[in-house]
Amino acid sequence: MLVRVLAVAGSRQEIQEIARFLARSEVLITGAENEQQMWRRLGSETFDMVVLTLSAISHPAPSIVEQIRELPDRPDVVALGEPRDSEERASYLSAGCLAFLDTGMSGRVFGQALRSLIERRREERPTQLELAPAVEPIRLASFASNSPAMQRFLAIAHRTVQTDSTLLIRGETGVGKEWLARAIHAESLRSNGPFIAINCAALSESLLESELFGHQKGAFTGASQSRRGHFELAHGGTIFLDEIAELPSHLQAKLLRVLEERRIQAIGSERSIEVDVRVMAATNRDLEDAIREKQFRLDLYYRLNVVSLTVPPLRERREDIPTLAEYFIENLRRRVPHEIVGIHSDVMDALSEHTWPGNVRELFNALERAVMLCRENVIQVADLPFRVDERAGVSSSLTGLARPAWCDLSWPAARRTLLEEAERTYFTRLLEEEDGRVGEVAERAGIDPRSLYDKMRRLGLRKEDFRRSLARRARRPGQTGSAS
Ligand SMILES: Nc1ncnc2c1ncn2[C@@H]1O[C@H](COP(=O)(O)OP(=O)(O)OP(=O)(O)O)[C@@H](O)[C@H]1O
Ligand SMILES: [Mg+2]
Repeated sequence: MLVRVLAVAGSRQEIQEIARFLARSEVLITGAENEQQMWRRLGSETFDMVVLTLSAISHPAPSIVEQIRELPDRPDVVALGEPRDSEERASYLSAGCLAFLDTGMSGRVFGQALRSLIERRREERPTQLELAPAVEPIRLASFASNSPAMQRFLAIAHRTVQTDSTLLIRGETGVGKEWLARAIHAESLRSNGPFIAINCAALSESLLESELFGHQKGAFTGASQSRRGHFELAHGGTIFLDEIAELPSHLQAKLLRVLEERRIQAIGSERSIEVDVRVMAATNRDLEDAIREKQFRLDLYYRLNVVSLTVPPLRERREDIPTLAEYFIENLRRRVPHEIVGIHSDVMDALSEHTWPGNVRELFNALERAVMLCRENVIQVADLPFRVDERAGVSSSLTGLARPAWCDLSWPAARRTLLEEAERTYFTRLLEEEDGRVGEVAERAGIDPRSLYDKMRRLGLRKEDFRRSLARRARRPGQTGSAS
């Protein structure tokens, strides 16, 4: 992450002097030559630290320190000056100053002190990074790879670890594109830096722009506070742009510029800042198709497709299913009160034969459900969801003549099962009726698109699978191309 420092000093030279001591790639310095400028900057941008030269502001300064500390980001304040006596120094510290540095100290010591204070802030600052799921580092070496397809794939993936090149990760839904991106990041030279993921399909266009690049206070209606973009938060690490094919066209142009110049400009800001970020993008759509349909820019495609990795679907790596299943059950059994010692060999056969359209995610969901429903300490075929059971011709109907399996469950477990079936039916129906348009479905369902995405992901529903009639409509004469 970039640490933003506001240097307040009486002249441009003094500001430059402070900036010289802090000249490091992870520090972004802004100057203010008087109190008025300082408040203007603090009002429109976010800062982590204010280096306050006391001679540049009017007194009483301790109350100014208190006001700065009350700002939403609670910037640290480092006072620079010559206190009259130890009492004055104490009054700054009790007002919330992190440190009081004497202007008389040597440049070297002063620089060191400032740098270590900044480092502390960088380590301690609770950032929006915590929004990213806290997963333990994933390693490429721990990927299940009994199948030739996965062995071939991992051999190529390993070669991308030590480079800094932009990666395009492709593959069907649920194959583990994000899982792979996290593994590559965790083993790369940037592993100490953040991994920031953003889903380009789950946000509205205007929100997405601000999430990616940030905005300044007042940049648009509702921007009551400035906000850092994900690119800035990912400074020193990796940004993962999920569902890149869904990026609206004007943001495609903006992203292209960012990839070319390695600089970002927040909405409403007059200046651009340099960011050091490795970009990984992922998609489960055919980008070449999107380019032909003029939905995706060819020049952006070239920029992203420096190295491309395609994660094989689960049905092409069946040899990995038992290892993955055991790994998931090992993790899941700790979550249930009853003891689970393993799975019946019929279950493993059923798992190995299923086609897994939702890939690894579907396998995980199937096993999660099985572990929850399991009444004995070995998982049985009957515990598998209907989508796996279908192979054996077992009825999945909740209302069929046969006595439903959920009658044997506790009511909370039965309710969860029924709710999931109902959710699947409900959202499948709406997606069919709206030709896969997530915005419309979310509106009809009365939920926001982001939660709809989460639900679809959990249920293994892909909007592409509902797009047929949309494609038909796009092909209608007069609606494609432009004669003007
Ligand atoms: N090799 C693996 N080992 C263990 N778990 C995995 C592996 N690959 C994927 N998973 C699990 O499968 C789920 C789906 O993975 P992930 O979210 O990375 O898929 P994806 O390809 O990004 O899907 P989508 O296209 O829907 O975004 C995750 O919850 C992850 O825990
Ligand atoms: Mg994903």
